[in-house]
Amino acid sequence: MLNALKQQPEDKIIRLIQEYKSDLRKDKIDLGVGVYRDRTGATPIMRAVKRAEKMLWEAESTKAYTGLAGDPEYRQAMTALILGEQAPTECIASIHTPGGTGAVRQAYELIRLAGTGAKLWISDPSWPNHISMARHLGIADCRYRYFDAESRGVDFSGMMQDLQSANAGDVVVLHGCCHNPTGANLDREQWRELTDLLKGKQLVPLVDIAYQGFGDGLIDDRSGVEVLTGTLPEVLIAASCSKNFGIYRERTGILIAKADSPSEAAKTQSTLTHLNRQNFSFPPDHGARLVTIILNDPDLRSEWENELNSVREGMLVLRRQLADELHERSNSNRFGFLASHRGMFSLLGATQEQVLKMRKDNGIYMVSDSRINVAGLNCQSVPVLAEAMLNAGL
Ligand code: LMR
Repeated sequence: MLNALKQQPEDKIIRLIQEYKSDLRKDKIDLGVGVYRDRTGATPIMRAVKRAEKMLWEAESTKAYTGLAGDPEYRQAMTALILGEQAPTECIASIHTPGGTGAVRQAYELIRLAGTGAKLWISDPSWPNHISMARHLGIADCRYRYFDAESRGVDFSGMMQDLQSANAGDVVVLHGCCHNPTGANLDREQWRELTDLLKGKQLVPLVDIAYQGFGDGLIDDRSGVEVLTGTLPEVLIAASCSKNFGIYRERTGILIAKADSPSEAAKTQSTLTHLNRQNFSFPPDHGARLVTIILNDPDLRSEWENELNSVREGMLVLRRQLADELHERSNSNRFGFLASHRGMFSLLGATQEQVLKMRKDNGIYMVSDSRINVAGLNCQSVPVLAEAMLNAGL
């Protein structure tokens, strides 16, 4: 049997981790995978997480299974964090999933199980796994325009025009904030206009919000989700605690479904719970417990929010430093987009040859589509990147 298998295509982000590791240069710079790094290049455990781990170690008396859908307290605390306190709880179903990827995967499984023939509309470009998981499950997918290569901002009219071709019941995959890979985001007005279009054409949004708190703050970053859930009958939301709690390897995420009525929410809840059972049974618990402790303890919560804010502000400083450095060196404003993008990533708009040149000449590792992880930079590497970009002809 095993000899019938084929080599599978590698995800370009995961491949880059290996390529970076095998480069022996001491001054190489890792701007690849979306993991936060502090100025020393480390990915520290947040203080609030360490404190919560200590509390959990002292209080936890069993490792017996939790519920199939995950711990209700975790799901409640996360739903309030992502949807706000005004969320219509009687119409909400949710499951704890292994990370944000697990949440997207379970959302796709739900779409497939519903059997309505919905097609997935995914931004061009998007996180590569959005497309490959859809194909893996045999769900039809297509692209809508999103990024304006000229301004490096959102091509909003292109996006709205393309979504006009969607059929009622199709699902539109959206990035709740901090668009991955571009860093270009919708503003509040655009979220409103988009919501009207989704409503008018009876489309269902699937919002991937993996970076809440990394853009303009926890509250501002959920404003798109709030408009959608406040207006539309059905919304799916896949969220992750990997980045904003820094608990990447604990695989902590959630899939939330807002239904049109309490009875539909009950059926959705039963389906989501069934999907957990079929795919992996009980979700991993440790990360979710830490998140619950932090969100429900006012002191820990404010420590976490402060830490998250300094992470966010640090990335904004690096964005401005890089934009200023490029402004000075190139004597032009064409890199101003770096300061207005939000989140961990920006798409530089370099060709693959330019990306490879920076890798070969300067040991700078970015994804082949020219996505950089801003958090991989520091004061020393900002001028190196700026120089390399200009040398590569950007
Ligand atoms: C990324 O985009 O780099 C992260 O979301 C990590 C991943 O799994 O791809």
